Amino acid sequence: MSNRTPIIAGNWKMYKTNVEAAAYLDDFLDLVADIGNVEVILCPSFTVLSELRSLTSDSKVRVAAQNMHFEQEGAYTGEVSPPMLKEIGIDDVVLGHSERREYFNETDTDLARKVVEALKAGFRPILCCGETDEEREAGQTQEKIKRQLLSGLAGIDAAQLATVVIAYEPIWAIGTGKTATPQIAQETSKFIREILAAQFGRDAAQQVRILYGGSVKPANIKELMAEEDIDGALVGGASLAASDFAQIVNFR
Ligand code: 13P
Repeated sequence: MSNRTPIIAGNWKMYKTNVEAAAYLDDFLDLVADIGNVEVILCPSFTVLSELRSLTSDSKVRVAAQNMHFEQEGAYTGEVSPPMLKEIGIDDVVLGHSERREYFNETDTDLARKVVEALKAGFRPILCCGETDEEREAGQTQEKIKRQLLSGLAGIDAAQLATVVIAYEPIWAIGTGKTATPQIAQETSKFIREILAAQFGRDAAQQVRILYGGSVKPANIKELMAEEDIDGALVGGASLAASDFAQIVNFR
């Protein structure tokens, strides 16, 4: 086991209103009251961030945004800026989820700017990467991930890297029930750490938390967490039920 503190993050995607989120927390906070050395993050929709932040203020649960624009303000209809999130006490932000890349045309160039601005504003970015089924079949997994990492992290230095969290989410495993085997998840996470070490140095790379995402469930979290380079999970579907997500958080 490494000495990196595990992170278990629940990405609610476009699920849960404020009323639903409050009901969830009623159950969830009791279930995770004694978690020990694990960081727990919930990532709700923008409209729920503020409420969730106040409802979790007496707990160790952190609240993250699912996206953020790179500009401070401007004529960008429908977008949310770094100061807007800071004002409501948000410190973590998911960037470059495959659904953002695929459905909202987010590019590696956008993400490089988002990562820089997030760090400048004092956020901890959770930068996502991962290959499609076709890319894996064609043997292009490493090439794709290397490109996503090196371009997404192009504007930062080794000292900043330590606060970045990487989420490896193979697209073929998201919402499909097809979890990557612990071996595949470990192999790719190790590759990610090697890329980071080559670019930023071994010390910085050793500090980075690498999360696995893609059909994580109470039944498979333990074996994933046993792998050397997997430092946590980014959970979609199974984070929507408080009891399932609490079981994942309590993976030990
Ligand atoms: P699932 O856990 O539903 O496969 O989603 C993973 C994901 O996309 C988390 O960001």
